[in-house]
Amino acid sequence: MVCLTFVPNSFPIAPQSGIRPPIMNGPMHPRPLVALLDGRDCTVEMPILKDVATVAFCDAQSTQEIHEKVLNEAVGALLYHTITLSRDDLDKFKGLRIIVRIGSGFDNVDIKAAAELGIAVCNVPSSSVEETADTALCLILNLYRRVTWMHQALREGTRASSVEQIREVAGGAARIRGETLGIIGLGRVGQAVALRAKAFGFGVIFYDPYLPDGVERSLGLQRMATLQDLLIHSDCVSLHCSLNEHNHHLINDFTIKQMRQGAFLVNTARGGLVDEKALAQALKEGRIRGAALDVHETEPFRAHPGQPEELREQRIPYGCITVAWHRCSHCCAPRAEWRCLQVRLQ
Ligand SMILES: NC(=O)c1ccc[n+]([C@@H]2O[C@H](COP(=O)([O-])OP(=O)(O)OC[C@H]3O[C@@H](n4cnc5c(N)ncnc54)[C@H](O)[C@@H]3O)[C@@H](O)[C@H]2O)c1
Repeated sequence: MVCLTFVPNSFPIAPQSGIRPPIMNGPMHPRPLVALLDGRDCTVEMPILKDVATVAFCDAQSTQEIHEKVLNEAVGALLYHTITLSRDDLDKFKGLRIIVRIGSGFDNVDIKAAAELGIAVCNVPSSSVEETADTALCLILNLYRRVTWMHQALREGTRASSVEQIREVAGGAARIRGETLGIIGLGRVGQAVALRAKAFGFGVIFYDPYLPDGVERSLGLQRMATLQDLLIHSDCVSLHCSLNEHNHHLINDFTIKQMRQGAFLVNTARGGLVDEKALAQALKEGRIRGAALDVHETEPFRAHPGQPEELREQRIPYGCITVAWHRCSHCCAPRAEWRCLQVRLQ
């Protein structure tokens, strides 16, 4: 069964500024307002909350787009990852008591500010672990086996009948067995990726300085003491750490130069972990053979001028990169979590 967890350090034990008023409920009081901030579909929430709260949706990308009534009256806010709540944003909500991140990462909420304002923050850590790990493996396998590029060539009418022609179209396809996959961040998704990758014949190593000694033994993996060690020893690097104030642009020009010549890079974690300009340059120069990105520093992908043109317009050698729309988790998993919650509440 899936349940919500309080994000560490966000539970408002001792709010420093302004204790928020208690939520009044019952026949004499208006029903509390709960708002989905960055989506429209409340079909799961409505039936669960219908007897105790009014549910609204805002479909907003920023708090400027949120109606005043929600800012003044909402006691609960639900959000995906497409809106960010900074301290200034949180200040605009006058009665907010709880934020629920529909998903695992909570890097789009300033949890320190939330705690100070007396707003609890919850997430759903188990949501989409398997979907994200499966997608990461798809991307890794595609970089090695080049399925999408061969499919593209076939659709474009490239003829490949002789062994030589096929070899040319499949150029760059590589054998997986014996390759080393380096996982940065061995949490829920990282572990799920490690287990899957072992079945494909990868030697799996990982770097995660926050895990206790011995986890490498229980999972049969090799632990690297430093990020540099991991980068030096990996043929393919896959990012699975949470984004926090210490690891913005963890993969940058300096750390890319520590990677093996011609290594692959996969990011299904958070866009802010990778300096995309440095990555684009490394792809252009062939220092990185290929990259697969499900997440981007500015999303949605292509809609932001902040992205390096090389990535946005794919002005890098054909066949080097695949991009997606931060949709690893999409198979209705988060909604299914809510259904689990509904079952539990009933
Ligand atoms: N693309 C998607 O749709 C999608 C879906 C789910 C999760 N995610 C992202 O995947 C990532 C992993 O999710 P999870 O549920 O496994 O999280 P998790 O909290 O279970 O694991 C994260 C791990 O990263 C480690 N870590 C933190 N900083 C690190 C650093 N600097 N170097 C190495 N390790 C570090 C932590 O110790 C932890 O073990 C998160 O960034 C999450 O936001 C993306």
